[in-house]
Amino acid sequence: MTTESPHRFLRACHRLPVDQTPVWLMRQAGRYLPEYMKIRQKAGDFLSLCKNPELATEVTLQPVCRFDLDAAILFSDILVVPEAMGMNLHFSVGEGPILEPVLRHPADLDRLRRVDPEDQLGYVMQAVDSIRNGLDDKIPLIGFSGSPWTLATYMVEGGSSKTFSYIKGMMFDQPQLLQQLLDKLSDVVADYLNAQIAHGVQAVQIFDTWGGVLGPREFGEFSLRSMQNIIQKLHRVGPKGHPVPVILFAKGCGSHLELMAASGCDVVGLDWTTDLGLARERVGGRVALQGNLDPAVLYASPERIRQEVRQLLHAYGPYPGHIFNLGHGMAQDMDPERVVDLVSAVREESRLLFGGQVGSNG
Ligand code: CP3
Repeated sequence: MTTESPHRFLRACHRLPVDQTPVWLMRQAGRYLPEYMKIRQKAGDFLSLCKNPELATEVTLQPVCRFDLDAAILFSDILVVPEAMGMNLHFSVGEGPILEPVLRHPADLDRLRRVDPEDQLGYVMQAVDSIRNGLDDKIPLIGFSGSPWTLATYMVEGGSSKTFSYIKGMMFDQPQLLQQLLDKLSDVVADYLNAQIAHGVQAVQIFDTWGGVLGPREFGEFSLRSMQNIIQKLHRVGPKGHPVPVILFAKGCGSHLELMAASGCDVVGLDWTTDLGLARERVGGRVALQGNLDPAVLYASPERIRQEVRQLLHAYGPYPGHIFNLGHGMAQDMDPERVVDLVSAVREESRLLFGGQVGSNG
């Protein structure tokens, strides 16, 4: 039986040959696009936009219409999960997210409820249905969730943090309490991603944005362990029998690459602080790699962007299993025209690199 996908992005996730390197960009939908700002205004605010399946579909498709990308990513936010578990969430302009009341004591955890994704997160499932419809299988849709550790940082700190004082204090003084929270989150995240898969997302990405603030022992114990638990629980076959690859992106965790590659995921996402060529040698053949252009390259000239793209493609080399992406998300002040330059550079330079020696996928 063959389940080989015709989609470049999915083929690369499974380390199958492609005609050119697939490309998508973290945070490809968002405030740098004037058409996004219009829809956000129509929705009222960011969270209302996430909760409106029709408008969430529209903003998911915006970058896909504007640029020649190989995958779409569901428009939502990782913090809708703690909200569904019973916390209050709001985004204040310029200040980032606020989650309350914060979790600090054992009794606080009892207030968190197990989520039925079809119920409390039904609006996400409706968005997945409607985005799949809108994409008409031209390119695959990626679903996502935050990792338990990254979600826990927001739930314990009450929002974004620079010092991670409360969650790290908890980690050292009350490790069992933190593990309880991480276990609860692992169950909820696994159910949530499985529901996204049942509704038709063709790959899932786990964002461990804050894994990099942990030491190597703590990363294994408090972040990787819960991501591994989730990966084991995922139904990695979609409704039509296609395999659903799992991408693990942990920012600032290049030094734990081998551990991540052994987690059971199919793809490891890298930020720009890791050398992509050396990374491929370290995990060679075990997982595909996604990344890892410094997003700030998009502030440079088209010529310089092309040079950096070429360098990155050559660092990986003409092997299967590379998905081109940024090492982190698009920023608000970036020029969409530079994304056009980036995507065409990836197309042209990767075709030259492959030089016809790797099988075409039509
Ligand atoms: O990639 C995409 O295009 C899909 C959409 C997406 C968003 N957030 C939209 C968003 C995804 C995948 C996320 C994930 C997310 N959210 C992460 C992990 C990825 C990462 O960036 O490391 C994290 C840590 C969050 C939490 C979050 N959401 C923060 C800290 C903020 C505020 C920071 C900021 O940039 O203002 C958000 C808001 C947010 N999420 C916006 C968007 C488009 C901006 C909201 C707005 O329109 O004002």
